[in-house]
Amino acid sequence: MAISVQSADRPGQHVLRAPGKAVMRFIYRHWARNYDKVIRKLGYRAPEFAADALARHVDLSSGPVLDMACGTGLSGLALKALGANRIDGMDISTEMMQQARKKGIYSRFIVADASVPLPIEDGAYIAALSTGLFTNGHVGAIALEPILSAVRPGGCFSFSVHSSVWKRLGFKDTIERLEREGRVDVLENTPMKHMEGLAGQTTIVVVLRRSAS
Ligand SMILES: C[S@@+](CC[C@H](N)C(=O)[O-])C[C@H]1O[C@@H](n2cnc3c(N)ncnc32)[C@H](O)[C@@H]1O
Repeated sequence: MAISVQSADRPGQHVLRAPGKAVMRFIYRHWARNYDKVIRKLGYRAPEFAADALARHVDLSSGPVLDMACGTGLSGLALKALGANRIDGMDISTEMMQQARKKGIYSRFIVADASVPLPIEDGAYIAALSTGLFTNGHVGAIALEPILSAVRPGGCFSFSVHSSVWKRLGFKDTIERLEREGRVDVLENTPMKHMEGLAGQTTIVVVLRRSAS
């Protein structure tokens, strides 16, 4: 599985391509300080798209919200702008969360790996958001159920999935299965151009509602 970081000056050109979780941690450790600048220069809008979608179904001011893979906090900023006032940030990279801390919008930070069971109670949050996690070299659909179980029954989980991994990393099949089993309702499933500066890049913004029973 490969991760690639693309050049802000030469859109479409990969400046870094590397496999594996350890390498991914290394990349974010070193990218943390200028992540916001680089990603915004590429016209990155996934946090706003996924937070807008979530706010169409949940009153974000009504309880705690989990920002999974919060990174430097761009996703938290998008949630706060829509009324969230208790946001917990969770990420595997402490360096990324150090940058998020500076934004002063999170109630607490939790270091955790989204691909294994999470260190939080079932149903602890009214909603969860995750942007930029479900992409090449990061995490596949295996993380959907642990994150969903952090949301209370009837609550929603909004996330972006890079189109290139939608089928390959199991998102299409897993979401269809969860729906068939009556465990979620799919409220939104919309392809969007999340990198205005990079032609051909699309993400799929999904909102799932956890079934009440
Ligand atoms: C592209 S950034 C997205 C950050 C933020 N949500 C945003 O949209 O700007 C991806 C984030 O996922 C985190 N990450 C990658 N793999 C992870 C995992 N297995 N568990 C938790 N976080 C992970 C990285 O540390 C990084 O902060």
